[in-house]
Amino acid sequence: MTVPPGAYPARSRTFKPRRRRLSPTREAALERLFPEFGLDVGGPMIDLVALFGRRAPLALEIGCGAGEAALAMATAAPDTDLIACDVHTPGIARLLTEIETAGLSNLRVVHGDALDFMARLPPRCLDEVRIYFPDPWPKPRQRQRRLVRDDLLESIIDSMSIGARLHLATDVDDYAEQIAEVCSRSERLDGGIVLRPDDRPLTRFEIKGLEAGHRVTDFEYRVVS
Ligand SMILES: C[S@@+](CC[C@H](N)C(=O)[O-])C[C@H]1O[C@@H](n2cnc3c(N)ncnc32)[C@H](O)[C@@H]1O
Repeated sequence: MTVPPGAYPARSRTFKPRRRRLSPTREAALERLFPEFGLDVGGPMIDLVALFGRRAPLALEIGCGAGEAALAMATAAPDTDLIACDVHTPGIARLLTEIETAGLSNLRVVHGDALDFMARLPPRCLDEVRIYFPDPWPKPRQRQRRLVRDDLLESIIDSMSIGARLHLATDVDDYAEQIAEVCSRSERLDGGIVLRPDDRPLTRFEIKGLEAGHRVTDFEYRVVS
């Protein structure tokens, strides 16, 4: 499958709005914990030192779902700060609860579109971007909504430092092809398919894909310019 460069509409959403009512417990957790661990999508440029109380390597996870990978990776790497973003309210409420339970100080959560949120980040501040199992948008006419496409990728790279790591995984073969094509077209990236890195935790979402017989492909790139 070939993705023609530049064949994308100005800005179609990369996610499906899902309206699910929160349980009263989750609703209360969201209200209580968001002010402590959450970040608004819109607002002034973020002061990272004020936010985390230090300037450590910074990672961004786009589309963290229920936050399993974010939680496990923030726990395993306390010297890295992580911002995890999703529009999925129950997942965000769950992650906030887990952050409090685990007492993590290196993880913050954005409830909304990560691509909008990135305008709040200082230029080239990200040392890592993680995109695990982005929404597949399987129909040909939906491919323009995929997160990994030329225009969005370039704006993500704009926020990444030279040498930063871009780590992606998908269980959709056709999406893997698209990732390989789009990333190889960017002159600012170097890398490709890798064996599953040890630091990427197995999530329920991935387990379901594996049980359905899907093949998982990991990609790792470095920002070179
Ligand atoms: C298929 S799920 C995978 C979730 C998680 N990464 C996992 O492996 O379990 C993809 C997630 O990406 C989120 N998503 C897609 N586009 C997004 C965006 N622009 N900003 C924030 N979240 C987004 C969706 O809401 C959805 O929860």
